[in-house]
Amino acid sequence: MDKLENMSNVHVMDHPLVAHKLTILRDKNTSVKDFRELVSEIGMLITYEATRDLPLTTKMVETPICKAEEPTLAGKKVAVVPILRAGLGLVDGVLRMVPSARVGHIGMYRDEETLEPHVYFCKMPKDVAEREIMIVDPMLATGGSADAAITEMKKRGCTHIKLLVLVAVPEGINRVHSKHPDVEIYAGAVDSHLNEHGYIVPGLGDAGDRIFGTK
Ligand code: PRP
Ligand code: URA
Repeated sequence: MDKLENMSNVHVMDHPLVAHKLTILRDKNTSVKDFRELVSEIGMLITYEATRDLPLTTKMVETPICKAEEPTLAGKKVAVVPILRAGLGLVDGVLRMVPSARVGHIGMYRDEETLEPHVYFCKMPKDVAEREIMIVDPMLATGGSADAAITEMKKRGCTHIKLLVLVAVPEGINRVHSKHPDVEIYAGAVDSHLNEHGYIVPGLGDAGDRIFGTK
């Protein structure tokens, strides 16, 4: 069982709503419909935390009472990048918080024996290198998929990358940290370990199958 080597750059949600919703996700009897809705809701809550450092400027508004100089987002451009397929479940939650974000898709499959990922599809907005990147995936297990997705984004010139996941384990966090110490990780929870099949324990099972009802 791996230990967390270092918690810098890891933000674990410390919020009763996230904890409550995650417990329902973990329950194997939760329906596909409820699972999908909860993934989206937690995605929204994690986005709230991951956008805490977005720069602000001010603008003049006229309230019913008087004119006032008030805060407004400085217009930093965001791209949300779901790792296919399960990452798609989080896109809606991010877009509800950041409606102007563009969406880039990265398709990845894992070799069933080695668990190593292979990129088979990557379609990004043209100006992706200028954007703040939020890679989304429900699970950070061995970290292979996240590592490959981050590497792919760096190849395209991206320099500001965050990784948003519902459940992580120390193995995955350590791998992302060691390869990409510049990337901030936002996780709904950090679980105990991986089992011999690469599944997170206790985890929530196969996130893609549960979101799309494919099992
Ligand atoms: C899951 C999950 C991550 C990956 C995490 O996807 O959504 O992408 O596993 O595992 P890792 O950290 O060990 O790389 P999966 O390969 O099951 O594909 P899916 O999204 O199509 O279900
Ligand atoms: N991928 C999943 O969907 N679940 C896990 O527990 C690990 C990898």
